This record gives sequence, C-alpha cells and structure tokens, in this order.
Amino acid sequence: MKKKLIAGNWKMNGATATNAALLQQLLAGVGQPACDIAVCVPAPYLAEVGALVKGSAIAVGAQDVSAHDAGAYTGEVSASMLRDLAVRYAIVGHSERRQYHGETDGVVASKAQKALAAGITPIVCVGETLQEREAGLTEEVVKRQLAAVIHTNGHCISEIVVAYEPVWAIGTGKTASPEQAQQVHAVLRAQLRAATEHSDRVQILYGGSMNAANAAQLLGQADIDGGLVGGASLKAPDFLAIIAAAA
Ligand code: PGA
Repeated sequence: MKKKLIAGNWKMNGATATNAALLQQLLAGVGQPACDIAVCVPAPYLAEVGALVKGSAIAVGAQDVSAHDAGAYTGEVSASMLRDLAVRYAIVGHSERRQYHGETDGVVASKAQKALAAGITPIVCVGETLQEREAGLTEEVVKRQLAAVIHTNGHCISEIVVAYEPVWAIGTGKTASPEQAQQVHAVLRAQLRAATEHSDRVQILYGGSMNAANAAQLLGQADIDGGLVGGASLKAPDFLAIIAAAA
C-alpha cells in the first residue's frame, strides 16, 4: 500500500539555532515512521537542514523552484541547485506564491516540469478561495490548476505529489471538514486517473490548518494520502503527533 506523506511547510520562519533545536526534537521523536516525512524549509537553510537530517527518515524540501534553468534571473533558485543540495521535494504553486507573486497556472506547470527534470518531486498545490467556494467554483478551479500541470508534464504526472489546500483554510484555524476535503480529493484523483494509469501511486495531501487534533480524521479519508502542514510543523510535539496519526 502507498505510504502517506507528511510534509512540513515552514514558510518564512526559522533561524540556524531554532532550526537545529526543532530538528533535534523531531529526530528524537520520530522513531521508525510508517509514513514519508519532509520539511520544506527556506532556501538559505536547505544545506543546514540537509546536513542535520542526513541518513534519517526526514527528507528535505524547498518551498519553490525557478521556472528557468540558469542565468540572469536574480533571486531565483534553480532545480539543479536544489538537486545539488540533495533536496527531495519542492513545493510549487503554493497559494501564497500565486497570490503575492503573481504565479499563473502556466508558471506553476513549468516549475513542476523543472523539478521533475532534476529528479525532484514537485508538491503541486491547488485550492480555491472562499469567494470561489461560495460561488460553487471549487471543482472548476482545482481542476483547472491541476490540468495545467498535467498538460505540461504528460506521462511524468504520476511522479508528482498534489496538495489540496483550500485558501480559506490556510493559517486561519478553519479546516475543511474531512468530508469536504475528501470530496475534492476524489475529484483530483479522478482527474489523475484519466491522465495516467499510475494515478494510484500519486499522493494527494490535504493542507490548511491541519493539526494534532484534526489530523487523524482527515488522514482517515479514502483519498487523503498525507498532509502539507504549515503552523503545526513549527512545533515538534504537534508535527510528531500528525506523523503518528499517519500510521
Ligand atoms: P497552515 O498552512 O497549516 O498553517 O494552515 C498550510 C500551508 O500553507 O501549506
């Protein structure tokens, strides 16, 4: 059976000293996990965190990757640089990047492509705003977002991870109910099934105020294969409890 994936998204948080303390607690508590685990950390800390978790059950992820290969793109970090640092995952299309950095579906698809070409697993985020949900557009929005990535990445699509993150649930303490989340996950699974015969191997994560108290119920849904965890991934006991719930 496919393992679940619990990925922490530290966002723009961290410092060398606090990173080391958090990871020490995670490494001490994680044991032999039944699920895949990753921490997606700010770019300046990828090397530090990579060294700290080397040889452990915790993989390192980036929070973004450039849509370009190399050259005159000031401030960007390429997929080959991530590869060079043994980075395993890269979040692409997080709603905060779509919202604050103008990332379009096309840009997100290109970023996923660059990651895949470098042997990095893109964690492709999709999700609707509250306004879109209230207008009954949830399915249309997430399908459009995923379709762009499917279109650009063809048969490699079974190598991605998808994260359904309703924008209204991110950092708000408002979680999608397990049923609401499962409903969207089933739509995404059907879309993947139509695109590849290997769709069952794709992990579809839920993200948006997942925490120690609600993780087990969310992770118990048929098509929820893990979590992309923001705030709760910064507190070792909470993140460890979510990892335990993914057994
Ligand atoms: P949250 O963030 O868990 O703090 O809501 C999740 C995310 O944005 O990936």
